[in-house]
Amino acid sequence: MALVLFSCNTSENASETENPTETEKNMNFNDAHSFAQPQIATITHLNWDVVVNFDEKIIEGTATYDLKTAEGATEIILDTKNDLEVISVTADGEKANFTAGSFVEHLGNPLAIEITDQTKQISITYKTSPNAAALQWLSPQQTANKTAPFLFTQSQAILARSWIPVQDGPGMRFTYDAKVKVPEGLIALMSAKNPKEKSADGVYTFKMAQPIPAYLMALTVGDVEYTQLGAHTGIYAESSLTEKASYEFAEMEDMLVAAEKLYGKYQWEVYDMIILPPSFPFGGMENPRLTFATPTIIAGDRSLTALVAHELAHSWSGNLVTNATWDDFWLNEGFTVYFERRIMESLYGEEYAEMLADLGYQDLQQTVEDYMKKNQASDTHLKLNLKDRDPDDGMSDIAYEKGYFLLRLLEKSVGRKKFDAFLKNYFTQNAFQVMTTEAFLDYLKANLLSEEFYEELKVDAWVYGPGLPENCPVPESNRFEKVEAQITAWQGGKPAAELDTAGWSSHEWLHFVRSIPMNLDLKQMTELDNTFGFTNSGNSEILAAWFQHTIRNNYTVADPVVKNFLINVGRRKFLTPTYKAFKEAGKIEQAREIYAEARPNYHSVSTQTMDELLGE
Ligand code: BES
Ligand code: ZN
Repeated sequence: MALVLFSCNTSENASETENPTETEKNMNFNDAHSFAQPQIATITHLNWDVVVNFDEKIIEGTATYDLKTAEGATEIILDTKNDLEVISVTADGEKANFTAGSFVEHLGNPLAIEITDQTKQISITYKTSPNAAALQWLSPQQTANKTAPFLFTQSQAILARSWIPVQDGPGMRFTYDAKVKVPEGLIALMSAKNPKEKSADGVYTFKMAQPIPAYLMALTVGDVEYTQLGAHTGIYAESSLTEKASYEFAEMEDMLVAAEKLYGKYQWEVYDMIILPPSFPFGGMENPRLTFATPTIIAGDRSLTALVAHELAHSWSGNLVTNATWDDFWLNEGFTVYFERRIMESLYGEEYAEMLADLGYQDLQQTVEDYMKKNQASDTHLKLNLKDRDPDDGMSDIAYEKGYFLLRLLEKSVGRKKFDAFLKNYFTQNAFQVMTTEAFLDYLKANLLSEEFYEELKVDAWVYGPGLPENCPVPESNRFEKVEAQITAWQGGKPAAELDTAGWSSHEWLHFVRSIPMNLDLKQMTELDNTFGFTNSGNSEILAAWFQHTIRNNYTVADPVVKNFLINVGRRKFLTPTYKAFKEAGKIEQAREIYAEARPNYHSVSTQTMDELLGE
């Protein structure tokens, strides 16, 4: 497999447009997850013209690319996977030779197209296969309204190549236009300038004027309607969810205003969100201009909107300044969690944000402990080494929470004012560019920390070392301390009904459910459930945390609820711990039985993980 050594000045044309400071950056990187050789030829613009065929579960059409080539270039290599079928290729209008290479684990198949260094444009006519990993085709039954089919993509980390032949690494960017034909009655939306109304003929056009990496390519097709929330914000949802969603996310515009106040102007003009069917494998995905979100964050009380703050924050960390490779994933996610909590703090205050940080700290400690037990200490480094592995393996609380705590340490060490100015400049100066971990550390030394302070804070140990360094800031939530006091009182014999839970937010309830002892008897489980109604909770986080207890403690009253949840919800973050609980409680047969029924409802991202978890 060809590794990519990207150097900004190897392409003749590139040096004219590149920011001169760019050459000084520590910006050499290998992307072990793409066949592309951007130092030879890159795509600068995509014109995508396709038909979405729900009957055959395929997308077919033509992708036309503008190229930038280095002197002597003879080919351009794109990524594909999952039997994406190339029908014909032209270069500057003439038929061109191409070779579809053989499959390489974790990468897919390279597509090499013959060009010269004078080639300006190539066109690829192709169709996807029904098992394209990014795509999930849903029947009406799997949607909220139950009246129309639905399609959505999930491209991150390296699944864009299953539906578009493309240079599929985060270090390469291009702009795009698209024309998409869908069945009448459905609306198509992309990570681009979007329609607000259905078209009569099912044809939609799109424009993404800012350069983005392939993992931010996104498409969804369904029967959804648009509701404006604020001057720059809106929500797409199926009609039966519109009212609930509009209430739940009414603060989106406030979040956008708070975010801009913190770290500079929002660069993507509008910020909309679409509520997808429950099989969406993630909580949210930061597709530019249109975040894709799970309906499981609609709790009825706006308590799970930190996810909106998170995906919005990616409009800076990730979408503007992008991790160069998936080994640098913490630059996307750690910065985003930090930014997310600052948005939440602006809207709801310090105490509130501190509860979120505390929950994150608990997750992080658990994750570090689990990796250490599995002898995978190097997976607790911020800078990862995912070569020959699925980049999905890097998606753990390390990138998110250890990344967050490093930034929190920096903030604490230099003071908020200085740190905010630093971050704002970082986003501004590196906008629409890639960032390696090394370039960030150089930037940190050049703009925030003296060499001595850098050493003192042990930044290298944070980035290249295992576990949680001793100087990790520890969140202190006095609201959670009160929760813990009530648990102690209950364990000391005070009836659940007499506990002081007045005014608790769902975060306090979540902390309560997570912190009660794991081994409870039937009487205790029943008492808690009858008093607090956990089994009937409308809050997916609380419900999933409660399942840990119901499964392990044989509280079978909850079994039908657990089963129903697993069959309907495909969000991996909930599926993994729930199926794991069955396994660890010695009930793998029960888990497999449910999974057999649920699996057809899941996206490939989730089935891949669950197949492994529940396999023989
Ligand atoms: N970009 C991620 C989702 C992702 C990461 C998809 C890696 C594929 C590979 C997104 O921003 C995210 O972090 N989602 C979280 C939300 C959260 C931390 C608030 C999720 O889905 O749980
Ligand atoms: Zn994220």
